[in-house]
Amino acid sequence: MFQGRLAELIEDRPDDGVFRVSRAIFDDPDIFTLEMRRIFEAGWIFLGIASQAAAAHDFFTTTVGRVPVLVTRDGTGQLHGFVNSCPHKGSRVAQVMQGNARLHVCPYHSWTFDSAGQNKAIKWKKAGCYSEGFDQTSHNLAPLPAFGEYRGFVFGSLSADVPSLTDHLGEAAKLLDLVADQSDEGMELVPGGVTFTYDANWKLQLENCSDAYHFTSAHPSYIRVLEQRQKQADDSVVKSVFENSDYWTGESEGVAGGSYSFAHGHVLNWGRFGISEALPLYERADQLAQKHGRAKRDWMFNMRNLTIFPNLQIAENASSQLRVIRPLSAGKTEMRTWCIAPKGESAEARRQRIRQYEDFFNPSGMATPDDTVSYENCQRGFASGVEPWLQGYARGQTASKPGGNIFSKALGMEPERSVLSDAQLCDETLYHSYYREWARRMAGAVKA
Ligand code: FES
Ligand SMILES: [Fe+2]
Repeated sequence: MFQGRLAELIEDRPDDGVFRVSRAIFDDPDIFTLEMRRIFEAGWIFLGIASQAAAAHDFFTTTVGRVPVLVTRDGTGQLHGFVNSCPHKGSRVAQVMQGNARLHVCPYHSWTFDSAGQNKAIKWKKAGCYSEGFDQTSHNLAPLPAFGEYRGFVFGSLSADVPSLTDHLGEAAKLLDLVADQSDEGMELVPGGVTFTYDANWKLQLENCSDAYHFTSAHPSYIRVLEQRQKQADDSVVKSVFENSDYWTGESEGVAGGSYSFAHGHVLNWGRFGISEALPLYERADQLAQKHGRAKRDWMFNMRNLTIFPNLQIAENASSQLRVIRPLSAGKTEMRTWCIAPKGESAEARRQRIRQYEDFFNPSGMATPDDTVSYENCQRGFASGVEPWLQGYARGQTASKPGGNIFSKALGMEPERSVLSDAQLCDETLYHSYYREWARRMAGAVKA
């Protein structure tokens, strides 16, 4: 049934140079319900990072699609993912976003579970006149059918019928390595996570993270503040900001950045930055080059906006942000965001990172409100079916090449497609990867 309708929603004719998306996929409630079932509740979803539950009995809660989920570390140090729903009558068991609990007591009738999800007590059990059949049934929390961790990034699925996590992440895992390898101790979320909602579809956030085209149009106040600061800075500081690594020369001359697309809908857009005091990682620049080689170190300093489809984004641009996208309805989305940082960085570097973070991100920053207002403006425009096709998927079509390039080779990474760009190309073909995966999953496929 949906397969028939797919042609009305996404027009993907590479031979004719046509890729268009219908406004309907952003505001149709039936499509939203199917997205929950086939994308969010049938495949790998990012849950959180392992250091959110670092110690024994630590836990955090999240959602997979519409389903509440509890991630908890048991007394032996093993991490588990459970549906956060009581086997008694279905109530959510854990009620808060994070904490430490040896025992989780359901607020409705006090059934009790340990940090490994085992039922430890049923209130007034002896007096309950339970049958033998009841006693033979498990009363434990239901584990997620698929649950796994890659370099501290924790994923789960409500269906066991998924590719392995390694296959799901594929070559894009090398971009998670660039985050994880910034410290020998791994990454952490800086205290002070923020949750906010916007009145528009979740895929607007998905796209915007990969959208270099909007930056100078939508964020003039941020750009003006940066220009002002640069004018005020003394010469030595300005020079160090523009000091560039000479690792990539020759054929990469004139390249300002580009994009990579991967199987399963993961994408990266990136910009060349250089080894600069403007980044808090600067204090580790030499150390990281010694440990991981110059190419990988230089990549850590590049601007990188990574999406692991469908709900994880790590933006390392003005600062470093981890975002979890939670669709609430076709026209409403919840964002959970944190500053993500390498463990063990100096107090000065952490201070710099947090100041840059406050500048740019969150409802109180200079950029996020510009973006969310734009999403809400788009959502209003989606009400029109007069001309349903959107034309925002065409930039870069003649620049998009199969496979990788000199920059991805430096990481030993083989993307499906790549684009190299100057400052103004602002590739839009990387969204094709989102919508090809979207279409495949909506048509009922999970495994490649
Ligand atoms: S619903 Fe949890 S104890 Fe009744
Ligand atoms: Fe933006």
